[in-house]
Amino acid sequence: MEPVNRMRVEFTSLPANVAFARVAAAAFASQLDFTLNDLEEIKVAVSEAVTNAIVHGYENSAGGTVVLAVEIRKNTLKIVVEDTGKGIEDMEKALQPAYSTDPERMGLGFAFMQSFSDSLKVESKPNAGTRVTMTKVCARKASSPAGR
Ligand SMILES: Nc1ncnc2c1ncn2[C@@H]1O[C@H](COP(=O)(O)OP(=O)(O)OP(=O)(O)O)[C@@H](O)[C@H]1O
Ligand SMILES: [Mg+2]
Repeated sequence: MEPVNRMRVEFTSLPANVAFARVAAAAFASQLDFTLNDLEEIKVAVSEAVTNAIVHGYENSAGGTVVLAVEIRKNTLKIVVEDTGKGIEDMEKALQPAYSTDPERMGLGFAFMQSFSDSLKVESKPNAGTRVTMTKVCARKASSPAGR
């Protein structure tokens, strides 16, 4: 059985923590042999998911906790971003590109997450929270640390 390598962090729902989350996810992901472009895409996808948790889930209040969990299984990276905020009322609409409940925003976050990952799953319950799960497969085989 292939071992699973996991990390999990939780942090306060402050915008400053978006940068922390994207770097933490990319640093962990770099244990696989992703290209720099892949790592950039991972960062953008994590930023979008964490920003959504803070801005929409917790409505910009610093009273919430965001969980980022990342898993490496063989050559597949799995990223989960979770909040226990207000949840999504209409999932079908939320996933449509250019749809936003905030007229000031572009409504492109989920579209980015979709295009920068191999799979995207969004689970949400109004007044309970939202969990976004993305996977990305690393095309190159990770080299062994001894080989570096
Ligand atoms: N974690 C979340 N909690 C509650 N609602 C969410 C969450 N994530 C997304 N949503 C809802 O889904 C909609 C679409 O999200 P998406 O990220 O695609 O666009 P956006 O955040 O509105 O705009 P952008 O990401 O371009 O700034 C949001 O407008 C919001 O209503
Ligand atoms: Mg967004």
